[in-house]
Amino acid sequence: MRKIVVASIKGGVGKTTVSSGLTRSLKRLGYRVGYLDVDITAPTGSEAFGLEKPPDWELDTAAEGGRGAIVPYNVEGIQFITLASHFGQAPAVLWDEEKKIDAARQLLQGVVAWRDLDWLILDTPPSSSGEMQALYKYITDLHGVILVFQPTDMAVADLYRTLDFLKFKKVAILGLINNMSYCVSPSGESFWPFLSPKIDLAAICENFRIPLLGEIPLTPDRKVVDQALDQIASRLDGAKPVILKEDITKRLIREGKRKLLKAAVRRL
Ligand SMILES: Nc1ncnc2c1ncn2[C@@H]1O[C@H](COP(=O)(O)OP(=O)(O)OP(=O)(O)O)[C@@H](O)[C@H]1O
Ligand SMILES: [Mg+2]
Repeated sequence: MRKIVVASIKGGVGKTTVSSGLTRSLKRLGYRVGYLDVDITAPTGSEAFGLEKPPDWELDTAAEGGRGAIVPYNVEGIQFITLASHFGQAPAVLWDEEKKIDAARQLLQGVVAWRDLDWLILDTPPSSSGEMQALYKYITDLHGVILVFQPTDMAVADLYRTLDFLKFKKVAILGLINNMSYCVSPSGESFWPFLSPKIDLAAICENFRIPLLGEIPLTPDRKVVDQALDQIASRLDGAKPVILKEDITKRLIREGKRKLLKAAVRRL
């Protein structure tokens, strides 16, 4: 089973959209796939799969040598687990860090009875603290991380933080997906939809030697997103994970972050 974590320290950039969509794309390619929503305080996996409510958990009492394990819910032939099943529908989650870390450990180590998977895709919260550190600590045989980012000024600040975090944790990166990379008007013209100047994520990827896995436009058309993710999924098998070796902050200081940003920013 190849495990992929979909991550970014920036919130709202499309991690859930990409992780759920990529899971469906891999399924369409004929793989056996699972989706694990490890966002503990704001799990939105059920919404991403169009479920009316988080599915009830079913227990396999014989699994894990008789200790029992949760059986993933079958959605479109995909094995699906979200912690929203534990909380019910949308209450605020008031767990402290210790409890979240324990939940992450259990989810990753034997509490779920996954059956014969080729790929397991993990959807994560926008964070570099407790639960995310626990995730990288407790996950075994991680294939790599897929980063999801928007090409905006505020997102790029968090991209550097994310790279620094993954370098520090020595976590392999499979590549970056440039989500909301441009917008297409109803008359078919491309335009830039954000207040920020457009950041050239391809240049940043090249600079840090991170593969750019693909781009997805900002669009109200689900089919356009699915097509982009189908292409990315078809290239995933051959993608080679890279571990960043160089200190990110030192590199940014040496190159002059301003200069780097200036070089990376291009208006449409
Ligand atoms: N390419 C896209 N085109 C249009 N809408 C998009 C696109 N990608 C994501 N969205 C929308 O943007 C919103 C945020 O996306 P999503 O929930 O996937 O982000 P997230 O990174 O998982 O957020 P969080 O950090 O809160 O977990 C959602 O309403 C989603 O439908
Ligand atoms: Mg999300």
